[in-house]
Amino acid sequence: MIKELLLKYNQPGPRYTSYPPANFFSEKFTPDDYRKALINSNNGEPESISLYFHVPFCPKMCWFCGCNTDLLDKKDKLDAYFNALLKEIDTVAPLLSKNRKITQIHWGGGTPNSVAVKYIEKVTEKINSYFSISENAEIAMECSPAYLSKKYINKLKSLGFNRISLGVQDFNQDVLNAVNRALPKYPVKEIVSDIRDAGFDGVNIDLIYGLPLQTTESFLKNIKQTAEIKPDRVVTFSYAHVPWVKPAQKKLEQFGLPKPDEKLDMLLSGYKKLLDLGYESIGMDHFALPDDELAYAKREKLLHRNFQGYCTKETTGQVYAFGSTGISQLYDAYSQNTKNTALYIKMINEKGFATERGYKLSSEEMIIRDIINEIMCNGILDFNELADKNNFSVEYLKKICNFNPGKLDNFIVDGLMSFSDDKLTVSETGMAVVRNIAMTFDPYLSKDTNMYSKTI
Ligand SMILES: C[S@@+](CC[C@H](N)C(=O)[O-])C[C@H]1O[C@@H](n2cnc3c(N)ncnc32)[C@H](O)[C@@H]1O
Ligand code: SF4
Repeated sequence: MIKELLLKYNQPGPRYTSYPPANFFSEKFTPDDYRKALINSNNGEPESISLYFHVPFCPKMCWFCGCNTDLLDKKDKLDAYFNALLKEIDTVAPLLSKNRKITQIHWGGGTPNSVAVKYIEKVTEKINSYFSISENAEIAMECSPAYLSKKYINKLKSLGFNRISLGVQDFNQDVLNAVNRALPKYPVKEIVSDIRDAGFDGVNIDLIYGLPLQTTESFLKNIKQTAEIKPDRVVTFSYAHVPWVKPAQKKLEQFGLPKPDEKLDMLLSGYKKLLDLGYESIGMDHFALPDDELAYAKREKLLHRNFQGYCTKETTGQVYAFGSTGISQLYDAYSQNTKNTALYIKMINEKGFATERGYKLSSEEMIIRDIINEIMCNGILDFNELADKNNFSVEYLKKICNFNPGKLDNFIVDGLMSFSDDKLTVSETGMAVVRNIAMTFDPYLSKDTNMYSKTI
């Protein structure tokens, strides 16, 4: 049933990690616009602060990689980069109100755990000198198991980290060798056990499907091995093959890649297997154990999402991003730093900001963002509630998102959602194609959808 639905609704569209999507960001948005948006963000919602730090380095490059990262060949790159990161904090932090608290810190990349822990320590000390951190803050790092040791794990814990996301990708060394990925330093099972012994609250495991040598059977084996370790969260990424953007990916074609039909099979059987093994679905590719706070938030319709992934409405804040590539997601603006690491360092050293592009949202766009977020994360939209919250009429809300009830007919007939008394509820099956439902509330989509990838 889900397979037929995915094929039926497999049309191009945005992933809605932001609204408007990142392809709307413009280079007309300047560092000065970012500075103004930072100051303005103190009066916006949510009041709490999420910080994102990007570390664009890896000691060995996986050929499948779609992330923004560079080979870490010279150690002096690190000093220059981290000095710039500290300087960027010194520019941004004084503009934020002292009363606001940090509820989330996320380190991503690249591979943040491949750099000496002293760099992470320096940034942590700098953050602590400016901000106060809320008691239940989630402090997480994306780590490659190739560079984690017990000592590194314990040090991260002593710096306040309470969650580690482990990029396992595949347990089979033949697959990892074929894609030029560094092998885990020691068995993943033992790494997770060290993370638990150190007192971390949670572990996430990333798997990827669609790589050379992978089959549905081998992917299910990976899922089984993952479930035996019992991480509280699992993400199954569908390999995005875009060699025209990432030329190194071309090297994978020599091995042959699983065909789209096989990938769909991996997605669906992987999804079913994780549910059978006791996980709950958070989005199509995110899963959590039932007692995890994301699973709870999903049940209570309190789920939220930002560029760093899913979070709860309690932990989420406006996102302030540091480092090359970083995207800040503020109350009324998005701002992205340059992706070029050398240019990032130069711009920060010269001006304190490295903004390359961004977007200032109108008040209407901020409301549409709320609508799309609620549908994407929680599968609900209550026009009356939203009208009360914003002090607008339901008619006005419907007008700004070009609401056309006719566009919902197919979804209703297919049992994917209901709509009555101006309230939309997506069914459990409907969550598989929720992006298509959200698209009907996006007034910009009538223009051109061909620039986006398809659902599968
Ligand atoms: C920054 S990496 C995680 C940390 C670390 N660098 C690692 O690889 O373990 C974030 C995640 O992006 C996913 N990823 C990377 N390239 C991808 C691609 N081409 N398509 C889909 N997912 C990809 C991987 O699953 C990876 O775990
Ligand atoms: S280690 Fe992670 S970020 Fe680095 S190249 Fe591999 S997938 Fe990309």
